[in-house]
Amino acid sequence: MTTSAPLPARPRIIRTMKLPPMVEARIAECFEAPPPPSQPLQTAEALRLAEEFGASAILLTHATPLFADMIPQIPSCVKLIATVSVGLDHLDVAALAERGIMVSNTPDVLTDCNADLTMMLILGASRRVTEMSRVIREGWGRSLAMDELLGLRVTGKTLGIVGMGRIGQGVARRARGFDMNVLYNNRRRLPEDLEYGASWVRDLNDMLPRCDILSLHLPGGDSTDSMMNAETFSQLPKGAIFINAARGRLVDETALIAALKSGQLAAAGLDVFRNEPHPNPELLSLPNVFATPHIGSCTVETRSDMGMLALDNVEAFIAGRPLPTGVTA
Ligand code: DGY
Repeated sequence: MTTSAPLPARPRIIRTMKLPPMVEARIAECFEAPPPPSQPLQTAEALRLAEEFGASAILLTHATPLFADMIPQIPSCVKLIATVSVGLDHLDVAALAERGIMVSNTPDVLTDCNADLTMMLILGASRRVTEMSRVIREGWGRSLAMDELLGLRVTGKTLGIVGMGRIGQGVARRARGFDMNVLYNNRRRLPEDLEYGASWVRDLNDMLPRCDILSLHLPGGDSTDSMMNAETFSQLPKGAIFINAARGRLVDETALIAALKSGQLAAAGLDVFRNEPHPNPELLSLPNVFATPHIGSCTVETRSDMGMLALDNVEAFIAGRPLPTGVTA
């Protein structure tokens, strides 16, 4: 009689939010996990659940931050934090590393959808979609006059990209389709094949006055906090369009509101806010704000790819292989 080798135990994980069907199906098939929560878990709840369940990995998002004050409360069974995001500003990666906890994220798979969303924000803000949408939802009822609710042409304008990483490059590539003149500000000049026809401007102060449209693509964090403020908004040409699909912390929202009210900015397209998910109501009440609720990666394909990549990282970790998209402090 042959004895078969014992089946390897299925990795024990928890997730702080329900994931797309394809990802949930893989969890059901290949992992041990409690049922998905109906609402994203708060950090304390997630850590309690991880302890009760004996999870070796936690899948989470920016809605469940793990800063230094919470790290001592992570149960000792947890060895991997697999964030289902590219951004890491909700995690203290250095403090996690000190506790011997590995971190992975989900880069690349969301680049295209974030760049697509940026184009939508550019178009939505420039073409006054907030106001137009109100007109149509209220029944329209009369023809608009030839000089009424005029937007701004996007084609041929100068777009300034701050932060020319993967998503910034994706925006530059798309902007070529709109015949835009693209400038970018980045610490270093990129090799020409990654510039997609955009021109590097070393100093942000030199770039701002040249931008009809400015779009941020920087990570959040202390070093970039409020980099858009009264001073930097005032350097843009009057009537510029401001776009942020990166992180709310990059912007001093009081200064943004003032610039939108004074006409210094014609409009803003915003997917991210300082106080998510409770953004400043005054900002949202402005007719020249075209806003979405942090949905850069919110498509069937991308959210599925992100969840799958997070699970790939868990499986690699359990098998003792290098993490496909591990993060170091
Ligand atoms: C990301 O992946 O960082 C998105 O902004 C969601 O947090």
